Amino acid sequence: MIIAIDGPSGAGKSSVSVEVARELGFSCLDTGAMYRSIAWQALQDGIALDDADALGEVARTHEIEFAHEPGNPKPMGVSIGGVDVTSAIRTAEIDRAVSPVSAVPAVREALVAQQQRIGRAGDYVVEGRDIGTVVFPDAEVKVFLTASDEARARRRVLQNEERGVGSTDFQTVLADIIRRDELDSSRAASPLRPADDAVHIDSSDMTMQQVIDQICSLARARV
Ligand code: DC
Repeated sequence: MIIAIDGPSGAGKSSVSVEVARELGFSCLDTGAMYRSIAWQALQDGIALDDADALGEVARTHEIEFAHEPGNPKPMGVSIGGVDVTSAIRTAEIDRAVSPVSAVPAVREALVAQQQRIGRAGDYVVEGRDIGTVVFPDAEVKVFLTASDEARARRRVLQNEERGVGSTDFQTVLADIIRRDELDSSRAASPLRPADDAVHIDSSDMTMQQVIDQICSLARARV
């Protein structure tokens, strides 16, 4: 079974996906980490963020791997071309670089193929922006998870504090979230939008457990 969870940044997709996967015994796939890894590699190689051909080549030629601990759906780390980038892809520099990189159709084509290969290997909770619309249009459960701009910025600040990377200034994080949503929603290639058959969940005034329970109920109803 595939559970597709799409939505803007900071809506709680990552935390919710891991816990839903844990409860149902699924694995989880964070597709944003894959776009971030390509952005990291591009910066590393000195590739201009408007050089679509070179960015597509990076995505086609570098393998992204998630390291898993048995029984834990949350990957311990992510690597690209054999280099561990688990923390390096969470910096403000990557936050800025990832939108132009993820807007390149050749990058998306290469990563979507990798995502479909990974997801078809088992039961997965897959989170991203285009999972229910493009990557797994036949997913058994599709969720579009949103929250107010302020709620999302507050959560992202807490997450950055916990991880010890990225900005912890509320206004900076809020401005970045709004800017990134605009870019992700207005790009030509697979813009952020809900699938027609997605269940919308606004998590602004919900606890994480309530969101998890609702998604698990949707999944159980499909079994
Ligand atoms: O979920 P995130 O913030 O880690 O995602 C990083 C960026 O990657 C975000 O700006 C949008 C992009 N992205 C995408 O275009 N498609 C996906 N399936 C996942 C992420």
